[in-house]
Amino acid sequence: MYTDIKFNEYADKMLNQLTKGVFMTTKKGDKVNTMTIAWGSISFVWGKPIFIAFVRYTRDTYQMVEHADEFTISIPLNIDLKKELGYCGSKSGRDYDKIKECDLKLRDARVINTPILEDCEMHYECKVIYKQALEPGNILQSVKDRYYNTNNYHVVYYGEIVDSYLIKGEE
Ligand SMILES: Cc1cc2nc3c(=O)[nH]c(=O)nc-3n(C[C@H](O)[C@H](O)[C@H](O)COP(=O)(O)O)c2cc1C
Repeated sequence: MYTDIKFNEYADKMLNQLTKGVFMTTKKGDKVNTMTIAWGSISFVWGKPIFIAFVRYTRDTYQMVEHADEFTISIPLNIDLKKELGYCGSKSGRDYDKIKECDLKLRDARVINTPILEDCEMHYECKVIYKQALEPGNILQSVKDRYYNTNNYHVVYYGEIVDSYLIKGEE
């Protein structure tokens, strides 16, 4: 069962979970990968609802999203997927089929080609409409020292939220 929601409905719960981790799923050809992200936000830009994700160059997800220009965000609201978030946040899709290893279940998205993780209750389907590599010269030195001392910068993806919903009626 699907319950359509506005992009900012459940924002409080979603942002709270985001600080602990949500799943960013990408697809390239037949390969589907998911990784844990905690840096990002929802916003409203260009008259559109947007999910903003920060992805470092070294992630397999970076290659995947560069190819597909779309991604899904799956958010566990009430269920405990700590173990899965930990695994998907430490192993790379280059070396492991994380979805299989974690026994996560894929379900076709409603609008885009990248599936959602049906273990989670809340989902955004996103099409990249803008991306921007962080400009090293514009980062506060203390932030640079803390997060970028190996020059592994983030690329920031602005994904238009083209669909947002709950599944299983969990709220
Ligand atoms: C809680 C948590 C949050 C994370 N947030 C991000 C993030 O926002 N951006 C990012 O690039 N990596 C983040 N990571 C690290 C990636 O999830 C991790 O490097 C992962 O193994 C990359 O997978 P991939 O190579 O299959 O893309 C996070 C890890 C954890 C555990």
